[in-house]
Amino acid sequence: MTQDELKQAVARAAIEYVPQGEIIGVGTGSTANFFIDELGKIKDRIKGAVASSEATAQRLKSHGIPVFDLNDVERLSVYIDGADEITPHGAMIKGGGAALTREKIVASVADRFVCIADGSKLVGVLGAFPLPVEVIPMAQAAVARKLAALGCEARLRMKDGQPLITDNGCQILDLIGLKIDRPAEMEALINNMVGVVTVGLFAQRGADVALLGMAEGVKKMTF
Ligand code: A5P
Repeated sequence: MTQDELKQAVARAAIEYVPQGEIIGVGTGSTANFFIDELGKIKDRIKGAVASSEATAQRLKSHGIPVFDLNDVERLSVYIDGADEITPHGAMIKGGGAALTREKIVASVADRFVCIADGSKLVGVLGAFPLPVEVIPMAQAAVARKLAALGCEARLRMKDGQPLITDNGCQILDLIGLKIDRPAEMEALINNMVGVVTVGLFAQRGADVALLGMAEGVKKMTF
């Protein structure tokens, strides 16, 4: 099976977690896109969705799925999203698609986080994938120096020759070579740096369920 077929398989499997008549939280990225396409097929079953990015909102709307502002929603029973890496304990690196802040916000309102990913995302230790950190632009260089002092390279993410600008008007530093033995502690440490908006470590609040696409089928992990 190709990586896309594995992503499609977990997107289909995640439909089981979509509650009847409710608003659900929807993530960002290629796996989330496959999920949105599956959701489009059963859109009459849900009231709508809260999107974790402008791109996701557009895709939901293209399927005729109503998109709600998070400020108009008190709680979500489920948030469904991909990951760049996930450990056997449910800690994740997210933000490869630059949507980490809104993803963390929407996930924080949900009772349950269902992570959907192809099996290659399962790792023993987080950090081979560069860890994204969203920063306030005026603090970018200062924060990069502090992050580099942790023993990594902090590289400003670029797009079309310019610093990438997130949906929140901020920038992304990708941390290369960071050793993440204790994800929850690292999350707190980086989140506490002045100028940091969000770190793409989801460990203090990780996944509750992971559906991982493997050649032999969808593997389910609960945490
Ligand atoms: C988006 O910002 C990310 O957190 C994605 O959820 C993550 O990068 C996984 O993306 P893919 O599903 O495209 O691998």
